[in-house]
Amino acid sequence: MEIKAIRGFNDILPDEIGKWQFVEGTARKVFEGFGFSEIRIPVLERTELFSRGIGEATDIVEKEMYTFTDKSGNSLTLRPEATASMARAYLEHQVYTFDPVAKLYCIGPMFRYERPQKGRYRQFYQMDAEVFGVENPMVDAEVIVMLIDFLERVGIEKLELHINTLGCRACRPRYREELKKFLTTKAFQLCEDCQRRLETNPLRIFDCKVETCQEAIVNAPNVSDFVCSECQKHFEKVREYLEIAGLAYILNPRMVRGLDYYTRTAFEVVSYHLGSQNAVTGGGRYDNLFQEIGGLDIPGIGFAIGMERLVSLLPKDRKFVQSPQLFIASLGDETIKEAYQIINQLHLQGIRAELDYEGKSLKSQMRRADKLKARYVLILGENELKKGRAVLRDMESKSQEEIPIPDLVNILKEKVKGQE
Ligand code: HAM
Repeated sequence: MEIKAIRGFNDILPDEIGKWQFVEGTARKVFEGFGFSEIRIPVLERTELFSRGIGEATDIVEKEMYTFTDKSGNSLTLRPEATASMARAYLEHQVYTFDPVAKLYCIGPMFRYERPQKGRYRQFYQMDAEVFGVENPMVDAEVIVMLIDFLERVGIEKLELHINTLGCRACRPRYREELKKFLTTKAFQLCEDCQRRLETNPLRIFDCKVETCQEAIVNAPNVSDFVCSECQKHFEKVREYLEIAGLAYILNPRMVRGLDYYTRTAFEVVSYHLGSQNAVTGGGRYDNLFQEIGGLDIPGIGFAIGMERLVSLLPKDRKFVQSPQLFIASLGDETIKEAYQIINQLHLQGIRAELDYEGKSLKSQMRRADKLKARYVLILGENELKKGRAVLRDMESKSQEEIPIPDLVNILKEKVKGQE
């Protein structure tokens, strides 16, 4: 029986990869321009890092982690997100001794055992950017400015930035109690999961998709009405800095985010072209995460962009496939050796070129060149070859000219300059 990929695990094929490379390349350029450095972290961590970091009573930890016991009896988990691992690495290597402020980014696969559907997979890629060591609200605005700049540079339009404040350790418990009190009166409307969440993590009920649960929360109190004056001041500053930067945003008091580590600023960027899985990015501040995972009292803020969702939003009219710059069509046994020498030269000069390995007819070689969308075709005929010349055909204008073979590299370089 043919072996197929696991459900929710995708292959990214060559005709798609150009989009991914473009998005990653732009992210590196933008993030590094904002002073971020790349960090690479393992895909496997001790389970405890996520259960303590993300929170025991979150959907991710309760039911979505790929957890197993290794041969030494350690409980390990494929990372469902990168923030906790980045914080672990920062603590473990005492990066703060070099400079208390660290701006880090990371690109790679994450794993969550969710029900696969469009925009939701079991292996998916994130681009994650984090700032560790700054409590000042200016940095909250700075990471959001960077995120929006990046999204604009990749050409994604009609996005909405939603922001909220989730309070801190001092003020959130009071909100949690109020919310619990309110929802207890509606408990009969809640699904089985939410009845449990009412005890373990009532904020999660906001994200439940079940209609009766959505109805139950219509008049629920908002977290932003319960935050302490310190959190309120922090949020006002974040908004002020966003306004100075000229960024439009929507205040969304219902947005609570699915991970427990968040404190104060939370944000999402959503696109209504994405259907039900409409968040391209989620992020926020997490000033207690470091302590939760056994470290120092270090504040942090960041975001993660879901790459599958982002790639699906790229402008459709843009060209991302790298087609050959030249296709060499050779006619006759003698010319194939010459074609082989020419293509080696071209490849050494960094020119993308293809040829026909099978000695097919000119017609079928031209058909293949057309299918590959080669920009030029070099036709090597025995007669021209004797004079050291070949025919260069422009596949767009359909014009052709005879050129001296030794000049090919220079002619091609000149022609393709500025075309890509
Ligand atoms: P998150 O909201 O769980 O946050 O995920 C961030 C983004 O990853 C989502 O907005 C979505 O685009 C994408 N994503 C999440 N799950 C899936 C999935 N199953 N399939 C496809 N895409 C998915 C976090 O992960 C936080 N670590 C973000 C963060 C960084 N907060 C602070 N720093």
